[in-house]
Amino acid sequence: MALSTLGLLTIGAIPTVIGVAEAIDAQKKQNQQAKERIKFKLTANFSHDDVALPQDASVVFKNKKLYLNHPACPVEGYPFNGFYFGYPGPENHQGLVAPIADDPPMLNWIYADKDTGLLRHGSRSETVGHIVGPWSWTEDEEWLTLENGQNFVAVENDEGSWNIHYDKEGNLDEILDRDIVDINLHRELQLGVSSRYTRGD
Ligand SMILES: *[C@@H]1O[C@H](CO)[C@@H](O)[C@H](O)[C@H]1NC(C)=O
Repeated sequence: MALSTLGLLTIGAIPTVIGVAEAIDAQKKQNQQAKERIKFKLTANFSHDDVALPQDASVVFKNKKLYLNHPACPVEGYPFNGFYFGYPGPENHQGLVAPIADDPPMLNWIYADKDTGLLRHGSRSETVGHIVGPWSWTEDEEWLTLENGQNFVAVENDEGSWNIHYDKEGNLDEILDRDIVDINLHRELQLGVSSRYTRGD
């Protein structure tokens, strides 16, 4: 086993009753958890009219929905800056939470509406019956996933701005009878003290 896999482990700190393999497992678990707790912003690079070059939009909260603040159709909202957290339920899904206000500070769950796939945020009771996870990241850790896929789309709303939907079955354009645009949601890690956890492994 390569020494580099020990990562942050200090050899002298391993109690002798724990085998090195178990200690590495424990360290991996800890690293994994630290990674889940890293806050990230979300962006999507897309063209609002299929003609203009794609531009980067950032995800914001407004009226309990997730919006894309796109340069061509801006939305003023509270910026998404979320992280993963275990959703309390029998499935033990990895949930996604984010602060939705500064004063008083408050966290909400991010979920997809069971009928329209619209991404929303709310208290735990508001999420019941909807799709609450598992949220995760792609293998390269760059992109957000829900239920192990990246089936996200941008949908133009009546105000001419864009919401994010989860297109689970790939038939949302028929259900909503609207233009939809396939998007990927890029995780922009807000690296602070935790940055060392994302390097190497
Ligand atoms: C968005 O996509 C366009 C076209 O592919 C590219 O030129 C641009 O650099 C991208 N912007 C970002 C922030 O990735």
